[in-house]
Amino acid sequence: MAEAAARRLKVGVLISGRGSNLKALLDACAAPGFPAEIVTVIANRPGAGGLEHARAAGVAAEVIDHKAFDGKPAFETAVTAALERAGVELLCLAGFMRVVSAAFVQHWHGRMINVHPSLLPLFPGLDTHERALAAGVKLHGCSVHFVTEEVDGGPIIGQAAVPVLPGDDPARLAARVLGVEHRLYPACLRLVAEGRVRLAGGKAEISGDFDGSGQLLNPAL
Ligand code: GAR
Repeated sequence: MAEAAARRLKVGVLISGRGSNLKALLDACAAPGFPAEIVTVIANRPGAGGLEHARAAGVAAEVIDHKAFDGKPAFETAVTAALERAGVELLCLAGFMRVVSAAFVQHWHGRMINVHPSLLPLFPGLDTHERALAAGVKLHGCSVHFVTEEVDGGPIIGQAAVPVLPGDDPARLAARVLGVEHRLYPACLRLVAEGRVRLAGGKAEISGDFDGSGQLLNPAL
């Protein structure tokens, strides 16, 4: 008799646009033994490109257009209802460009994560690549964090850094950061799905052994 498949964490993904991070998560979940599965994808914008990635992977995808609702509470109630109908246990925001309400955060407390294109707590909010270039930082990157009421302020699960190089413009820097988002987000989802991330004292603690020998110097010395 075939061995029973290991239980996989049921994940819902919220997107607003292109969905390249969604694609990275879908690809990770398609690998044998990955401890999570995406059960539904919701876009708040009709025509969000990422919907096609979901459909191509055979994952249910729908549009819940925030503009069709009379205010944020009604929109978020519809989103939560759809996620719960699908049995979602963990919610991943992947380029979801709506600020969620305190009520929504409380409902999904400890069960909602986001990828943000900066090394938080630097550059929360929008235009992170422009602001990194304006600040003259030499390392930039991305963070995966739990979502709390403070925008981009929740406990950090993981971060990935890239160098800022001479001649960078926001688009070139964004593309370099996006490359590491696609590696970091699935890695963090795996940690959460394996039950290795614990919230304690406002921080995300990760259990297990780590290779702490990696270094990124820019300029390399
Ligand atoms: C990504 O760079 C993500 O980090 C960012 O939007 C992009 C979405 O790309 N998210 C935010 O800025 C959230 N505040 P994608 O749709 O191709 O994944």
